[in-house]
Amino acid sequence: MADKQVETTGHQWDDEEGFPLQEYNNPLPTWWLYSFYATIVFAVIYWILYPAWPIPGGFTKGVLGWSQYQELQQDMDAAKTARKVFDDQLSAASLEEIAAKPQLLAYAMAAGRSLFANNCAACHGSEGSGTTKGFPILVDDDWLYGGTLKEIYETIFNGRSGTMPPHLQAAGGGFSAEQVSDLADYVLTLSHRSADQAAAERGKALFTGDAGCFICHGDHGRGAVLDTVGGQPIDHNIGAPNLTDAIWLHGGDRATLVQTISRGRTSKMPAWGVDSPELGGRKLDPLAVKQLALYVHGLGGGK
Ligand code: HEC
Ligand code: HEC
Repeated sequence: MADKQVETTGHQWDDEEGFPLQEYNNPLPTWWLYSFYATIVFAVIYWILYPAWPIPGGFTKGVLGWSQYQELQQDMDAAKTARKVFDDQLSAASLEEIAAKPQLLAYAMAAGRSLFANNCAACHGSEGSGTTKGFPILVDDDWLYGGTLKEIYETIFNGRSGTMPPHLQAAGGGFSAEQVSDLADYVLTLSHRSADQAAAERGKALFTGDAGCFICHGDHGRGAVLDTVGGQPIDHNIGAPNLTDAIWLHGGDRATLVQTISRGRTSKMPAWGVDSPELGGRKLDPLAVKQLALYVHGLGGGK
């Protein structure tokens, strides 16, 4: 290296110890130079082929006519085609058939989950957790109208309306405030809480007798879905809740029980498969109701 003549730019700074500080002018490495030219050529070709430069009123489109939107559209069309294959299978299969095919079921439940978030979570809580009084929890196995796929589908498609009649004389029923109070004591004991024993006995006689509670809630108060009357099953469409568990639609404390038994309660689940006034024309197609039924059934409580 020492004897090779180094090209300099001619700039030189003298330094005190006598070593001049020079600015060398080394040629660029060849590989670098050619790479540099190649990038310029590439850029020019790119500008010709693809959208590149902003110009007044838009941008240069490139001779290939490529666009991101077009590519997105193609991707979306492909996804739609893939979805249609599944949707067609879902439409053709029965609820039970879908439930038996893991891949189809997973697809239906994913679709059901987003439908649920958009249409149902406002009343039933996110993922059916049911945090608001008067709106049933959908993640447990406590059903007002039954937890089979068919029953859940029916509930969503045609809606439901549960009516607990009033019992207090002043509210149109046939019973005194004392009798209502006795009934509340009996309901407390049904769900294993302490109550006045004598009052609860009187309440029991009313429940299973004159007051007719058993007709809807069953001989043992276990509700229309689980209980029986004289050994016969109860029509699930009545929607009378189980009174022996710790799950309450309206509330299980004594004051709320007295209120429910006195004044009655009416709850409405809108119909999603048919035109329903509550939803003001909002309606889901049968495929969506199917996906929702499978999703709700899969939340944990399905029978
Ligand atoms: C406006 C509030 C509201 C919306 C929105 C709503 N529900 Fe309901 N849903 C109710 C009420 C209230 C009940 C209880 C009806 C009764 O007690 O008779 C109910 C009951 C149900 C039941 C029966 C539960 C059981 O124990 O048998 C199911 C299943 C259900 N809803 C699913 C859905 C699905 C799925 C959606 C979305 C498509 C939805 N709900 C949207 C209010 C709503
Ligand atoms: C015609 C049928 C019917 C009769 C008779 C009836 N119930 Fe009900 N009961 C229902 C229905 C349906 C509901 C649910 C109401 C709703 O969906 O909001 C209900 C709700 C209740 C609730 C609220 C449960 C909760 O989870 O919050 C209590 C408590 C109750 N009934 C007690 C009684 C008692 C006590 C009697 C007798 C005095 C009685 N019911 C008679 C149908 C009936």
